[in-house]
Amino acid sequence: MTSQVRGAQLARLLGQWHSLPGRRRSPDYAALAAAVRGLLADGRLPLGVRLPAERELAQALRISRTTVTAAYRQLRESGHLASRRGAGSWTMLPGTHRVTSSGLWTPLDDLDMIDLGVAALSAPPQLLSAARAATEDLPRYLGGAGYHPTGIVELREAVAEAYTARGLPTSADQIMVTSGTQHALDLVLRLALAPGASVLVESPTYPNALAALAARRARITTHGLALDGAGWDAELLLGSIRQGRPKLAYLIPDFQNPTGHLMPADLRERVVAAAHAAGTDLVVDESFVDLPLDATPVPPAVASFDRHSRVISIGGMSKPYWGGLRIGWVRASAPQVQRLAAARVGVDMSSPVLDQLVAVHLLAEAPAIVADRRAQLTAQRDALLGALASRLPDWRVCVPRGGVTLWAELDGPISSALARAAEEVGVRLAPGPRFGLDGTLERFLRLPFTLPAADLVEAVDRIAAVRYGLDRAARPQWREPAVIA
Ligand SMILES: Cc1ncc(COP(=O)(O)O)c(C=O)c1O
Repeated sequence: MTSQVRGAQLARLLGQWHSLPGRRRSPDYAALAAAVRGLLADGRLPLGVRLPAERELAQALRISRTTVTAAYRQLRESGHLASRRGAGSWTMLPGTHRVTSSGLWTPLDDLDMIDLGVAALSAPPQLLSAARAATEDLPRYLGGAGYHPTGIVELREAVAEAYTARGLPTSADQIMVTSGTQHALDLVLRLALAPGASVLVESPTYPNALAALAARRARITTHGLALDGAGWDAELLLGSIRQGRPKLAYLIPDFQNPTGHLMPADLRERVVAAAHAAGTDLVVDESFVDLPLDATPVPPAVASFDRHSRVISIGGMSKPYWGGLRIGWVRASAPQVQRLAAARVGVDMSSPVLDQLVAVHLLAEAPAIVADRRAQLTAQRDALLGALASRLPDWRVCVPRGGVTLWAELDGPISSALARAAEEVGVRLAPGPRFGLDGTLERFLRLPFTLPAADLVEAVDRIAAVRYGLDRAARPQWREPAVIA
């Protein structure tokens, strides 16, 4: 299915394309092509969308058709557009670019960019030996067809044991292995949520969860987290569940992304009780549960307060181990797991056996790997906090006691403008509004501490240098694809 953007709509998105700074040197058609490239690269114009016919766009922009023809030709030459006579022109991703996990475009050769848009660590050194050991195990599986919709038993057992060790008795038939936590969320939403149903989420929250909810056309309401203290306002959160009676609530109680907040035990218990009374299903994202810092004790799992199969927990290997493994899971009741497996067969059948075996070997070494990760993250977090305190002392941050990100309150509603300016000096930022609805949260910025300390300090230096420039110069509204945040 191809969607189409009309001339008037594209003209609105293009805004003041003809009067942007630096424009005098380039002819109209080149400026128009560059403006369309800018919209594509920051995601406002999706891939695979049909652009208006040349005549329609020319009318909407009040320019000559020759200018639009030349701009479309240039976009075709740069790989941003494909055209077929009689059928129209579609937006495309040029072969020189890739889409990052934050949804933004970046050039393939974008090597010296410090990427603070992604909150994930590089692989631990144990990954290679785990992969080698996994290939040794593989022959045991080669006699079968290799499809295991709920996951291979060894991995389900290992994940179940980890839950049991956390104080939440779990059997292997309560676990379904997925291709990452995001996949787990998508599957759960397919099963639990009719299109248009109401969902409560934290604000700010994980942007790809918002995307998964948008794909289900969920009606989203938010619970605002405070920067300081516990983050959640207990009475407000419980009130939203009791009075709003959402069909589902998606929460990240363990070192929340992006704020790093940790939900206290008593609130976990009360949320489960309120959800049960309101008929709300709870989806609890435990992506960061293994990453407490400063020896912070982690409260019992939310599901440990559940007596009625209201809580579905999701988690995965990406944060403590490696995102490239694409291994996640769902913990639910055994019948729910079977229903999820049935739904998943129509999506991707099952997860790769070899990757699951790698995960089994990594989980066997969990204590050593996770201890290293925590030490690394503590040092990197402290380096980032130190750099912020010395270079951007007007920003307010709450020290996260776990996870991989901190949430900063800026000295003005400048997050998107700052992200655009930072791109110019080689730092990619995910601005605050990406973590909420409707473009709010412009006063906030998420900063992950997953890169080496030296990179974090360098990034803060560069951000500080452009931050003070923002007050002096109005920023243009778009950028070349190479520098979009
Ligand atoms: C809260 C949260 N959930 C899910 C994910 C996605 O994880 P995965 O790579 O396992 O799909 C992330 C990744 O950043 C996350 O922060």
